[in-house]
Amino acid sequence: MILTEQQELVRRTARDFATKHLEPGAIKRDDKAEFPHQEVKMMGDLGFMGIMVPEKWGGAAMDTISYSLIIEEISRIDAAAAVIVSVNNSLVCQIFVNNGNDLQNKKYLTDLAQGKLLGAFSLSEPQSGSDASNMKTIGEKDGSHYILNGTKNWVTNGINSDLVIVMAVTDKSKGYKGISSFIVPKNLDGISLGNKEDKLGIRSSDTCEIHFDNCRVPIENLIDSEGKGYQIALNALDGGRIGIASQALGVAQAALDKSKTYAKERKQFGTSIADFGAIKEKIATMGTNIEASRLLIHNAALLKDLHKPFTKEAAMAKSFSSQTAMDSATDCVQIFGGYGYMQEYGVERLMRDAKITQIYEGTTEIQKMVIARELLEN
Ligand code: CAA
Repeated sequence: MILTEQQELVRRTARDFATKHLEPGAIKRDDKAEFPHQEVKMMGDLGFMGIMVPEKWGGAAMDTISYSLIIEEISRIDAAAAVIVSVNNSLVCQIFVNNGNDLQNKKYLTDLAQGKLLGAFSLSEPQSGSDASNMKTIGEKDGSHYILNGTKNWVTNGINSDLVIVMAVTDKSKGYKGISSFIVPKNLDGISLGNKEDKLGIRSSDTCEIHFDNCRVPIENLIDSEGKGYQIALNALDGGRIGIASQALGVAQAALDKSKTYAKERKQFGTSIADFGAIKEKIATMGTNIEASRLLIHNAALLKDLHKPFTKEAAMAKSFSSQTAMDSATDCVQIFGGYGYMQEYGVERLMRDAKITQIYEGTTEIQKMVIARELLEN
């Protein structure tokens, strides 16, 4: 897909930033599971924390293809930094843009969009991952507050965020129509954080459990109205899946770039390994799947910006790109051979980071369910 001049500029800016500021510390941050505080602040200054937020609310007012390009470029270097950005954009800022009222947007969105506040999104619970509506966290109305009780799992940015979007049941009798969404500042009483999870990949992003124990949330922090929470969450996840697909694409592109360079340099049997058919086949497959991923992602992004349905297209983009990331990263390690298995070459990290793109924001199995349902019903 041909990019506009503006989109090309955005891509270059993100690439320069990632190369200059994210690359130097990426392996160490991954090893020590260190959150990139300084780098997130810099991305806030560049407008990367509120990419699609209107200028009125302090955002960069860019389109969704630009969002995808930024996430792809960050992920080429550091997929952990990319998920911090993606969650703040897709699952937090976008909920405010689509469903927040002026008071809420004024109080939170401007700072979220400029990186002065960091957001998190909490839908999953110990017993409900894919089956997201089967949640137990309750929000009981008590005068001018809702009282939250329950536990949320695997919350990206859970530790370092300032506020969390929380989905909770406000009316048990109504099933998913009884779920509501709340803006929950982390400094409220009754919130405690579980341990930081020790993860296979994207290690420098933080993930934790959040416990709510009689946490009193002011009534004005209810998003939209009671019962709208599940729809708000699934709608945001459609956009989030474009972000995670772009993260997967960045990982896959990094795998291809590193594979090409190494295959041309590495000599075996008196010639560079790029001369061997087995290596050429891997490079060709990676390149083709990466190009197909990019087209699927940009197609979903375009539909989103045109306000057309894009649920199926986002699911296609995510399931295909995440498989491409996993395959490309695995083949990259294979091309690097023994070196690829060592941390210092930075390609084993691609393989570890790729895996999560097949799991969070809806597993591949859920994406296939969404795609098949739409194909069969229409
Ligand atoms: N957008 C908006 N609304 C939607 C929707 C969408 N994409 N899909 C369904 N809905 C609505 C339906 O219209 C329906 O509402 P109405 O009755 O008013 O029409 C309601 O939601 C229920 O629909 P379904 O019966 O189809 O829903 P379901 O319970 O069968 O679930 C599902 C559908 C696709 C499986 C959904 O549960 C799902 O996506 N599960 C995966 C959850 C997920 O992605 N979790 C990620 C956790 S967050 C995370 O990973 C973030 C991170 O930290 C990085």
